[in-house]
Amino acid sequence: MKTLLAALAHGVNRAFPKAKSLLPKPLHRFVLLRVLGVNRPYERMLRENPERLFLQHEALPWVSDTYRKVLFVGTASYTHQYEDFFRDDPDRYTTIDRNPATKVWGGKHHIVASILDIDKHRPPGFFDCIVLNGILAYSIPELDDHGVIEREEIRKLVEALHRVMRPGGFLLVGWRLTDMPASPVELGLLDPYFVPTERPPWGRRKEFPGDIHVLESYERTAI
Ligand SMILES: C[S@@+](CC[C@H](N)C(=O)[O-])C[C@H]1O[C@@H](n2cnc3c(N)ncnc32)[C@H](O)[C@@H]1O
Repeated sequence: MKTLLAALAHGVNRAFPKAKSLLPKPLHRFVLLRVLGVNRPYERMLRENPERLFLQHEALPWVSDTYRKVLFVGTASYTHQYEDFFRDDPDRYTTIDRNPATKVWGGKHHIVASILDIDKHRPPGFFDCIVLNGILAYSIPELDDHGVIEREEIRKLVEALHRVMRPGGFLLVGWRLTDMPASPVELGLLDPYFVPTERPPWGRRKEFPGDIHVLESYERTAI
């Protein structure tokens, strides 16, 4: 039955590629998750990856309890549930991804644009916190997908984030050490816009023994 439904969903998508944008988001997600099983390749990561578990069970709950206006950068089928931390007031949570296909995984306020252009979409000082995980330095050539890699591009990103955050705002940055062994601070990419902070319960840097992911905590300076 599921296989039949999946074949039907693929057939409809091929015949009417724009039809999915007409579906209500809950129904669209249901088809993708329950009928097409798009999260199946990520099941193990969601169950076992220490960075993913930390993000979901410690970092994001703390972020939601501590900060009012939060931006989450880069949406995927395995990140849509993060909006639940903002159920008290979905207007607190904004998502952004430059790939229009990932809009369905975004929150109530989703922006389809590059994070480098966030300041064209939100006014200065708008966010109290930005979560920038899995955006820096990655490259997946077989999917023709890559994050923000070049030094000048990362600098532009840092300046844009600085513009849309209030002074004292919290920036959580996560990346893979295999993509970028040195941190943005060590590379001199944050000065004078952000400085490391001990503010969150896990401190300024969170590593995961035996895992390539790392998260660092920064505070927006007052300049
Ligand atoms: C690794 S995935 C998901 C990252 C997600 N934030 C997480 O925590 O796993 C990266 C996503 O970031 C998006 N992305 C990459 N570079 C971007 C940019 N410059 N602006 C906006 N989105 C970007 C891609 O389209 C992709 O959907």
